[in-house]
Formats: sequence, structure tokens, C-alpha cells
Amino acid sequence: MRRLRGSESLRGLVRETRLEPSDFILPLFAVPGKGVRKEISSMPGNHQLSIDELVKECSDAHQLGISGVILFGIPETKDELASGAYAEDGIVQQAVRAVKREVPKLLVMTDVCNCEYTSHGHCGLVVDGEVQNDPTLEWLAKAAVSHARAGADVVAPSDMMDGRVAAIRKALDEAGFANTPILAYAAKFASVFYGPFREAAESSPQFGDRRSYQMDPANAREALREIELDLEEGADMIMVKPAMPYLDIIRQARDRFPAPLGAYQVSGEFSMLMAAIQKGWLDRDRAILESLTSIRRAGADFILTYFSREAARLLAS
Ligand code: PBG
Repeated sequence: MRRLRGSESLRGLVRETRLEPSDFILPLFAVPGKGVRKEISSMPGNHQLSIDELVKECSDAHQLGISGVILFGIPETKDELASGAYAEDGIVQQAVRAVKREVPKLLVMTDVCNCEYTSHGHCGLVVDGEVQNDPTLEWLAKAAVSHARAGADVVAPSDMMDGRVAAIRKALDEAGFANTPILAYAAKFASVFYGPFREAAESSPQFGDRRSYQMDPANAREALREIELDLEEGADMIMVKPAMPYLDIIRQARDRFPAPLGAYQVSGEFSMLMAAIQKGWLDRDRAILESLTSIRRAGADFILTYFSREAARLLAS
């Protein structure tokens, strides 16, 4: 076996999995204001950005060959009804307009969820301490339409309510956005690895947790049912999230479903690697590329990752 490992050219020739900058989607956080660039302490190198700064980041990402960004919004104020999530001039809606105006070729995806917009931090309408499914679908559908109207290329529901893909598809079609694709966070697990994101998005639940809607990390067959349902409801692309602790789910999804498959290397995966890198315990460049290669090898077509910029630079050098 070692004959084919003797030089970089031979290794390159027989390499089975390749990474390209176009495999990556960069998550970004939009906040109100101007000239704001506030580092997220648990995610070194990532910032809450006001729209002017966010546009600069997008133009750099485009120059690096990254396919797109996924936008999250942190509104000025939060309320029980998540009204910022579906406001026509909400923070994400404004950010989408600005990015599509300044960097039109960059794919702009939007995360469709309510947890950044509710005062209690849950992903839907709460009645008597319980997240309500069907009333939440109306918010999600309104949010998706408002994103599409602002110019979003892809909408990505991450709330894990039942029936959201069908509700969003119907609303988009009725509003004249039959061509806007849905990337479903189809198999999204109730994961500890979202911790740093909740600092970034200021979206920690104020009571309880998300286990009544996000999936139990122990369940693989259930993940396949979730994906199947989302595809039946009209999802154009599917996603598994988190990525590295769920490579088996990515592989099973790839083998079972022909739809384009994304994986989200989430905040905690990023922070964990970054912490070890910063301590000098792991080599930065190799840790980034090996982690992303493993996700592609498991079967993901594209990866949402906070390492998009670094990885694209490494691949170009
Ligand atoms: C919104 C959402 C979350 C993430 C993406 N969309 C947070 C959550 O579900 O708690 C996490 C992304 C990350 O950790 O990088 N619901």
C-alpha cells in the first residue's frame, strides 16, 4: 500500500476526497448599528457585525471563492411573538438587501428560526411553558417570505417544528417565490455544541432546553425519518447538524437520499478546535483541513463552517 504514498503528487493523484472553497458556506451574525465589529469571545475570529461591516466580510468571502453565507440576526429588541423574525425591515432582511446589492454573486442563505427574536429564547410560541408547533409555523412562513422578498437565494429553517417545510413551501409559492429553494436543517440534534452560538446570537433559552423539538443525539433511524419527511414536504436540500459528532448520520443520509446534502460544523466544534489550536496542542492548518475533509468524506456535499475563510485561504496556497 505504501507505494502510492511516496510523494505528494502520487498522494494527490489517488486522493478520494477533495476540498474546494466552493464547498463552504460562512455563517455571519448581523447586529444593528454602524461600524460594529464585536468579537464573540468563545469563537475567536468571529464577530457580531453591523451591516456595513458584514458586507465587507461578504465581499472578502466571495473573493476567496466561498459559495455563500448564512445570515443570523440579533435584533434591537426581543418579544414573546418573535416579531423581529418576520419584520420586513428586520435586521436579517436589511442585511440580505445590502449583501445582494453589494455582492450579488455571493449566495445568501438565511436561517429561518425564532430563537434569536423571542424574549424567552425558544424557537416558537410558548404557551404554559410549552413550545407550540402549529402557531409557530405561521411565524416561520412569514419569516421565510420576508427573507425571499429581501432577496435571499435560499431559506434554511432550523427550528425543528413538524411541518415547517411544507408550510414554508406553500407560503413561498403563494407569495411568488416558487423558485426560492429550501435547505432544511432536517436532522438537527439537541446538542451541547451549540453553546458558543448562543453567546453569539444571544439566544440561550431562558427556561428549560430545546429537547422537546430538537432530536435526541442517540437516534439515527429517527434522523432518517426526519430527512424523509422534509424531502416529502418539499425540501430541495437537506442538512445534518452538528457535523463531526454525527458523521454516521451524514453517511447514512448520503447513502439513502440523492438530494444535495449539507453538514453544519457548528460553533462548539469550531471553538473546541480553536481552543486546542490556541493552546498549541493542535496544528492549526492541519486541524482545519482534516476536520473538513472528514465531513466531506462522510458524504456531505457542502459544509457550513466558521473555518470557511481560513480553509479557503489554505486551499489557495
Ligand atoms: C437556531 C440555530 C442554532 C444554530 C443554528 N441555528 C442554535 C440552536 O438551535 O440552539 C446553531 C449553530 C451553531 O452552533 O453554530 N435555532
